[in-house]
Parts: sequence; C-alpha cells; structure tokens
Amino acid sequence: MAVPRCRVLLGPSSDVILSIEMSILPILRFPDQRLRETSRDVTSFDDDLKRLVADMTDTMYLAEGAGLSAIQVGVPLRLFLVDPEVAARPATDPPVVFINPQIVRLSDEEQTGDEGCLSFPGIFVPVKRAMTAEFKALDVEGKPFTVEGSGLFARAMQHEHDHLAGRLLIDMVGPVKRQIIRRKMRKEAEVEAP
Ligand code: NI
Repeated sequence: MAVPRCRVLLGPSSDVILSIEMSILPILRFPDQRLRETSRDVTSFDDDLKRLVADMTDTMYLAEGAGLSAIQVGVPLRLFLVDPEVAARPATDPPVVFINPQIVRLSDEEQTGDEGCLSFPGIFVPVKRAMTAEFKALDVEGKPFTVEGSGLFARAMQHEHDHLAGRLLIDMVGPVKRQIIRRKMRKEAEVEAP
C-alpha cells in the first residue's frame, strides 16, 4: 500500500529544523467492500506492525476518531486502537492498541447512545451496546493484557471489534435508517469523485 507522507519543517532558521514526520493513511468509507472483509490474526510483532500502529495513531488523531481499526485503512489484520481519553487514561498516553482481541465478558446491562464511525463521516445513529465490556488482547510487543471498560470505552471496544468481522454501523440500524445512510454515503461518494 502506498503511504502518503507529509514532512513539515518548522522554524525559519536552518540551524534549528524541527521535523515532524507523520503518515496519514486514507480511511476507507462505506460502501467500500474492503470494510466487509474478515480480518486475520497478527502473527509477527515486527517493525512493520509498529509502523502501522504509528501511522494509524496519526490517522486517528487527525480524523479526531475515538477508535480506528486496521481494516479501515485497508489492512485486514485483527488490530484496533482506542483513544487514550476514551479509554479513561491521560490524554498524553498513547492510544490503547488491541491486537488479536477477544471478548472476555459483556455485561447484561446495556447502554443506548449515538455512535459514529470514521468510515461513515457525519453519521451518528443510536446503537445499543453492553454497558461494560472486558477484552483480552496482545499489545504491540505481543504481550497479553486484559482490560475492562464501561460507557464510551466499552462502546468503542465493541464497535472496533465489530470491524474485525466486517460488521459495520449500518448493520446496527433498521431498514429505513439503513436506506437513508446508504443514500447519503452514495451521494457523498459521487460529490467527491473526480
Ligand atoms: Ni468504525
């Protein structure tokens, strides 16, 4: 996959050049069929994986997302990120990286709230989710961890986990809303086509 790279040079003096290198990956939008793919397990915890996580981090922050799954940038690997603040951590922490995640437990108690997705920009629909979710996953070094979250964090983990099975926001609504979303996304794709 081609990775567009933008290099920003700050500072007027050539003595002090602060270079910030960011890689922003294009985010696939519905109805891109790649979003329907089932992602496969990550097997090598190498530099390529770390690079992907770094690029996804930049991409998620620029898009102001609460979470991002690898398939949304066209990489069918079982990997997603959740924004640190959404994960109830300090904003200065890196995103929480979930690799080969598995649901350990979902609470019977549910929550209904508006949910959005970077692959459906501008669309928010009420979705019912478990109030609390416990997940186990591997971190970027391949080390296992377990995490439990409630509210928005639980919602984000469940939403991103759905992506890994090709399950999307549009599948969570009734037929009327589904038709409205489909039309809106098609119209947007037409507007943006060259
Ligand atoms: Ni999403």
